[in-house]
Amino acid sequence: MRTITLCSGKGGVGKTLLATSLGRIIQRQEKCNVLLVDLDLSVRGLTLLAFQNKYELDRLPFSLTDYFYLEDEDQPALLHDLHKGLAQNNSNAEESQETTAQATAGPSPYERLDGLFILPSSTESERPDWTPLHHLELNETIDKLGKLYEFATSSLHVDYVIFDTQAGLGSLSLAATTLSDMNLIVLEEDDISWRTALNALMEISALNKRLQQKSHSYFLANKVSSSMLDTADKLKAFSFLPPIPFDAWVQKLFAHATTAVLEKDFEQSDFFKQVESRVWQELAVILGARQRTTGNGPRSSWWRG
Ligand SMILES: Nc1ncnc2c1ncn2[C@@H]1O[C@H](COP(=O)(O)OP(=O)(O)OP(=O)(O)O)[C@@H](O)[C@H]1O
Ligand SMILES: [Mg+2]
Repeated sequence: MRTITLCSGKGGVGKTLLATSLGRIIQRQEKCNVLLVDLDLSVRGLTLLAFQNKYELDRLPFSLTDYFYLEDEDQPALLHDLHKGLAQNNSNAEESQETTAQATAGPSPYERLDGLFILPSSTESERPDWTPLHHLELNETIDKLGKLYEFATSSLHVDYVIFDTQAGLGSLSLAATTLSDMNLIVLEEDDISWRTALNALMEISALNKRLQQKSHSYFLANKVSSSMLDTADKLKAFSFLPPIPFDAWVQKLFAHATTAVLEKDFEQSDFFKQVESRVWQELAVILGARQRTTGNGPRSSWWRG
């Protein structure tokens, strides 16, 4: 199993769009189950993208917000519901008497496309009383997320887990990086984005050092203008994955309906094709899922902590 975390210093750089696209690409190319997790409890872009039908969302038994809000004694019931939802009608589910007994008819409500499972941050489509979880303590969050990760990946046979996080690297995002093989720090072509991306790299590095863990971190420049593409390509030598150009069609599409990202047509966008043919090709080699076919062997990242 491989785990990827998408994070950023600045918001709106394309993490959610990239997480979803990568999930679709990996599922299709590797013919495996992919679990996407919405760790952005505040904006919850992935949740809104995947569950636009209000009733569908409201009847889901599990959300990350519930999990992090609830007292410890309420957790077993919630995890039980999650297990039930993920294992439902899934032939790859780990064989256990419990699974068989609890499985009910119909596909898992978390399976949004074939083999693509999405865990929502919130089960409520509207939250007027919404209070974001600003004060999650880091060590506690690492423990809790680790427990959830183990639980989810033992309820369902998953080959890839992708965490979509909130901009700015709060405790949940940092906790995700401790479970990750690969952190993708997404940035745009502006000064604030670059600077905060560097800060993010330093924070992840310091945490990995403290916990004596190893994960790769790569920068991924998105929405790059054509005049900058060549420069961004040259940065490949410095732990930059191939850059993704600005795609006006995608921007327009997102302005109308984010669910379009899960539809077939989306595969025809330049954005999707670039992520598939360039970013995933490179990532797959770094993650050891593929062998390099051209070039001089795998690049090493200049940060590995
Ligand atoms: N390469 C691209 N070309 C054009 N528009 C893009 C591109 N990548 C992302 N966008 C647009 O940028 C906006 C933000 O994307 P997205 O929600 O994925 O960013 P995010 O980093 O997840 O944001 P947040 O920090 O709020 O969670 C969306 O309108 C999306 O369509
Ligand atoms: Mg987002």
